Amino acid sequence: MYAVIGGSGLTKLSEFEVVRREVMRTPYGEPSGVLTVGRLAGHDLVFMARHGYGHTIAPHDINYCANIWALKQMGVEGIVGVASVGGIRADLYTGALVVPDGIIDYTHGRRGTFFEGPDQPVVHIDFTHPYTPALRKALLAAGDSVGEEIFDGATYGCTQGPRLETAAEIRRLERDGCDIVGMTGMPEAVLARELEIPYAALAVVVNPAAGKGDSAASVSMDDIQKTLSVSMVKVCKILSAFVALEVD
Ligand code: HPA
Repeated sequence: MYAVIGGSGLTKLSEFEVVRREVMRTPYGEPSGVLTVGRLAGHDLVFMARHGYGHTIAPHDINYCANIWALKQMGVEGIVGVASVGGIRADLYTGALVVPDGIIDYTHGRRGTFFEGPDQPVVHIDFTHPYTPALRKALLAAGDSVGEEIFDGATYGCTQGPRLETAAEIRRLERDGCDIVGMTGMPEAVLARELEIPYAALAVVVNPAAGKGDSAASVSMDDIQKTLSVSMVKVCKILSAFVALEVD
């Protein structure tokens, strides 16, 4: 059974038949909300809203450890993190869907490991390729099968938020090699890796990053909302195809 962590604009999946809701407690505190367990396109799926169902939890306040731990307890075999992002690379137009393959982490002050505390060993996990290749491939194949274009590969720069970036920060991210920018990719991806849960992200470009294109003067939240509602329909279509695929 797979899990989907929904980001901004995705607090529920269309066509998802909810079978039950699970309130999970974890040694790390409370997850973002109840886990909904149900069926999508005839397959079992767990859904969690990353920011809470009322979208009240800011990126730096999300209890990433509790979320990933709770999904591990549910026995999920993989996680797709859906995330809205700003586009830095010129070809990543507003509305584009992207399956990233790299991460640069600019966050601070977030708990980024389960291996912490007096009884824990020091563990240095491999994170060379932060997203699980088989899940990335399956998302791309799912996009293909429903005729939705998905960009294969991008470096996701994860900023602290909750404010958006300055134009100068985006220029720096670009020099660093970031193609897209978001606020929630980390530590979500690394915590999944620590618990050995395959993880991939499906990113939706909802605005040009600060200082770029239509965001030259400012980033419009209204435009972001409009893009989100159109794009999440595509995301739901892709996820329905994804759960029906056999992932090797
Ligand atoms: N920056 C950071 N996070 C984001 C953006 C952005 O421009 N758009 C959506 N999430």
